[in-house]
Amino acid sequence: MRSDDPTYVREQYAVEDGLAARASIYGGGGTDVRDVVLEELARVRPERLLEVGCGWGELAERIADELECRVVALDQSERMVELSRERGVDAHVADVQALPFGDDEFDAVVAAWMLYHVPALDRALSECARVLRAGGTFIAVTNAAADFSELWDLVGRDTSSRLLTFRAENGEETLSRHFDHVSKHDVLGEVVFNDSDAVRRYVGSSSLGRQYLDGIPELTEPLVARKRVTVFVATTRSERVPG
Ligand SMILES: C[S@@+](CC[C@H](N)C(=O)[O-])C[C@H]1O[C@@H](n2cnc3c(N)ncnc32)[C@H](O)[C@@H]1O
Repeated sequence: MRSDDPTYVREQYAVEDGLAARASIYGGGGTDVRDVVLEELARVRPERLLEVGCGWGELAERIADELECRVVALDQSERMVELSRERGVDAHVADVQALPFGDDEFDAVVAAWMLYHVPALDRALSECARVLRAGGTFIAVTNAAADFSELWDLVGRDTSSRLLTFRAENGEETLSRHFDHVSKHDVLGEVVFNDSDAVRRYVGSSSLGRQYLDGIPELTEPLVARKRVTVFVATTRSERVPG
């Protein structure tokens, strides 16, 4: 199964449990990638910003508070939109592949850890470019295909199909089809899994991982896995690329 399989994506985000399990593990240390996104946005001072695939709205809330800009957020999951609204985020159920907005409506669009879930990736990117004004900023956050390879090697999962989706390794080339001036900021960190239970909690947090639960060995020492995240920053072209 791939991370852009629509049935998997719907099931994975119908409730927040899987996302919450992974978030509690990432919270361990290192650079907060959301700080990097906020710094990049602060440079361009957007007045109106769209976040696509907002999850429970944590980043949208921070952007609205810290940059004092008007934020609209969307997610394909009704539950995620409900959680975002509970934080006061102006959130709506919608699909990034068919944005319910007119051309040139936003100064910035943010897609954080969501493009690898989108099957019609070029369509989604052309939609994001369409709703951005000329010279607007697009920020995409994604993981490398090699993200947490130490953990997936341990449980015997082949992650090569990740490269068929939007990842750190191919993101620049993909974004260049729709945007100008693509820059890439790698953010590396380490997460320590102290015991096999911690590995089980992480691996069991998605149906992509659950099939590997039986292959988890008892750890004799903590497992250090490397988080490999990339923040892409791009600007819109003056001429539009059809989706
Ligand atoms: C890994 S979560 C990331 C959430 C949030 N951006 C964050 O940084 O925590 C991916 C989110 O993208 C949403 N998503 C996936 N495909 C989508 C699509 N085609 N349109 C809109 N949202 C989508 C999922 O429902 C999920 O909430």
